[in-house]
Amino acid sequence: MIKEKFNLTGKVAIITGASKGIGEAMARGLAEFGATVVVSSRKQAAVDAVAKQFQAEGLTAIGIECHVAKPDHREKLIEKVMEKYGRIDILINNAGTNPYFGPIHKMPENLYQKTMDININSALALSNLVYPIMQAQGGGSIIHISSIEGIHSSAMMAAYDISKHALIALGKNQAIEWGRHNIRVNTICPGYVKTKLSEALLSNEELMKSFEKNCALGRYSTPDEMAGLAVFLASDASSYMTGSTIVNDGGLLHAPLFG
Ligand SMILES: NC(=O)c1ccc[n+]([C@@H]2O[C@H](COP(=O)([O-])OP(=O)(O)OC[C@H]3O[C@@H](n4cnc5c(N)ncnc54)[C@H](OP(=O)(O)O)[C@@H]3O)[C@@H](O)[C@H]2O)c1
Repeated sequence: MIKEKFNLTGKVAIITGASKGIGEAMARGLAEFGATVVVSSRKQAAVDAVAKQFQAEGLTAIGIECHVAKPDHREKLIEKVMEKYGRIDILINNAGTNPYFGPIHKMPENLYQKTMDININSALALSNLVYPIMQAQGGGSIIHISSIEGIHSSAMMAAYDISKHALIALGKNQAIEWGRHNIRVNTICPGYVKTKLSEALLSNEELMKSFEKNCALGRYSTPDEMAGLAVFLASDASSYMTGSTIVNDGGLLHAPLFG
């Protein structure tokens, strides 16, 4: 049955940056389809709270702290999941940051480096940690959370945009190298989603006027509107998809060039 292909029962999923926003919504979606979810972020108390809430709803979840830019945290996260569950089927590299809004020529090197470490280097390193596990298991699904900024750049967001472009490239290269091990790698590019990260953008009236005019659906999305795609890419329903970049942006990238 095709419906059965969406069933994630028996699969173990790690979602980084899942204490709130898009990561939390995707973790909930995966758990609702039967996965055991590992909710991860920098703060143990925050991920414990989300895991507890999921458990109260009858879902299977635990919280494990991991600052994705810290190598020892990344290693501990994978070790702990393997100790507890003995497998990893799904990795969603969702944790992201955007600490600098300003011109390229004034971009502080430390903020550029921070953005790269969290948004792209951690995804590469975490993927490399799960690769031998997924290979031994006979497959797995890795999902990167990029952005429409990974396809179409905006002024004043150079570090973020470079990292999100790189994430798409990483997914394509991993797909090519890891496909023969049945490890699929796909990338989601959200448009504007109402979360803490987008607060500053969404509260900018001038920007929102132009956004509402240009976005085909005329509105930003809620985090749960990102979850269905994650469930699909994590599951066997997408068993022939790898190396894909999927945009979920309410039609924003198709904004009219004139008028
Ligand atoms: N919101 C949008 O409009 C939008 C659009 C396109 C793409 N995205 C992408 O979607 C992803 C999620 O963003 P969001 O909007 O859901 O953000 P959010 O609501 O601000 O949530 C960010 C999450 O990441 C965690 N986090 C932050 N730094 C971390 C680190 N160094 N290590 C581990 N976890 C960390 C935060 O938890 P703690 O504070 O507990 O660590 C939180 O759970 C990001 O990659 C972002 O670039 C967002």
